[in-house]
Amino acid sequence: MAVDTKRFDDGVPSLWLEPLALAALLALVVCVVCKLYSRLTVGVCTSTKSMKGKTVIITGANAGIGKETARELAKRDARVIIACRNLQKASEAAKQIEAETGKQIFIRKLDLCSLKSVKDFAEEIIREEERVDVLINNAGIVPFPERVETVDGFEQTFQTNHLAPFLLTNLLLNKMKETPSSRIITLSSSLHHFGRIDPDHLDYSAYKVPMQVYSDTKLANILFTRELARRLRGTGVTANVCHPGAVQTDINSTYVGFLNFCLNCLFFFFGKTPLEGAQTSLHLSVSEEVDGISGEYWKDCRVAKGSAASRDMKLATKLWNQSEKLTGLAI
Ligand SMILES: NC(=O)c1ccc[n+]([C@@H]2O[C@H](COP(=O)([O-])OP(=O)(O)OC[C@H]3O[C@@H](n4cnc5c(N)ncnc54)[C@H](OP(=O)(O)O)[C@@H]3O)[C@@H](O)[C@H]2O)c1
Repeated sequence: MAVDTKRFDDGVPSLWLEPLALAALLALVVCVVCKLYSRLTVGVCTSTKSMKGKTVIITGANAGIGKETARELAKRDARVIIACRNLQKASEAAKQIEAETGKQIFIRKLDLCSLKSVKDFAEEIIREEERVDVLINNAGIVPFPERVETVDGFEQTFQTNHLAPFLLTNLLLNKMKETPSSRIITLSSSLHHFGRIDPDHLDYSAYKVPMQVYSDTKLANILFTRELARRLRGTGVTANVCHPGAVQTDINSTYVGFLNFCLNCLFFFFGKTPLEGAQTSLHLSVSEEVDGISGEYWKDCRVAKGSAASRDMKLATKLWNQSEKLTGLAI
C-alpha cells in the first residue's frame, strides 16, 4: 500500500487517517480475532474409552461429520453400522475407513426421504442386531431454493432432518432399552436460534425463506431430544443433541454460484475440519463424563443453553404429539 508521505506527523505515518486503510485494518483484526476464537474454542473429546462390544449406528456416515465419527468409533473397536441412502458412496467410505483402521464397517440402506425405508431399516436392525448402544442421528440437509416434497408428501428438509429421525429413534427405542446405558445423539445447529417452529403448520406450504425451514428443523431436533429425554427417565437410555460447529463439509453444495463461493470461503477460513466437527458427537458417544446426562444441548463438548424456544417444554410436547401423528406412530 502506498503511504502518503505528506501525512507524516513527527515521523509517524498517520495511516489511521485513511478511511480505506482503517476499514481494511479493522476487517483484518476482526478476521484474526474470529479465527483465533474459533481455534481456541474447538472442543476435543479427551476420553480414550474403548467401544469394544458396542454397536453404533450413524445415519449419513458416507461423508462429512458422520464419516469422521464412524472412523473414530471404528478406531475404538465399535461395531459401526453406517446407514446411508447411496450405497455406492457408502461402500467407498467404508472401504476407506476399513483400510485406515483395519476394522469392518457395516453398511445398511436408509433413505430418510422415505418413511418406508426408515421402517425397513429399523426392522432389519431389530431382527439382526443383538444390541444398539449408540444411535447417532447425523444425516441432514439444507433446503433447496424450491420446495421439494418427499414420497410421503412432506417437505424434504423437514422430513430428512426431523420427521424421519423421530420415527427411526422411536422404532429402535425398545432395542435400545434392552441395551444397558444406551445413548441417542442428534445433530442440531446453532441456527436453531432462528427457528420458529409451529407444530400446527408443519407442511411448509409457504416456502418463502428456505433457510427458515432448516432453522426450524434444527430447533425441532432439540425439542425432540428434550421431550425424548423426559420420556426416557429411568430407562437407562439417554438422549442428547449437539451443534458440531461450522464445519467444512459438502452440506452447502445444494447452493451454487456466488452464494456457494461465499459460504465455502467463510467455512474455509473460520470453519472446523470434519474431524474437529465430529468431536462433540464422539464425546457424547463415548465419554464417561456424559454418563447419566440426558436432554442437554451440547457445543464443543460442553453443555450449552440453547435458545429460549429450545427450552419450551410445552412446545416440545406439542411437536412430539404432532410428529407421532404425522409418522403414523399415533393414530
Ligand atoms: N457442516 C456444518 O457446518 C454443520 C453445522 C451445523 C449442523 N450440521 C449438521 O451436521 C449434520 C451432518 O452434516 P455434514 O456437514 O456432515 O453434512 P454432509 O457432509 O452433507 O453429510 C450429510 C450426510 O447426510 C446424508 N443424507 C442426506 N439426506 C439423506 C437421506 N434422505 N437419507 C439418508 N442420508 C441422507 C448424506 O448422504 P448423501 O451423500 O447421499 O447425500 C450425507 O452422508 C447435519 O445434521 C447438519 O445439519 C452441520
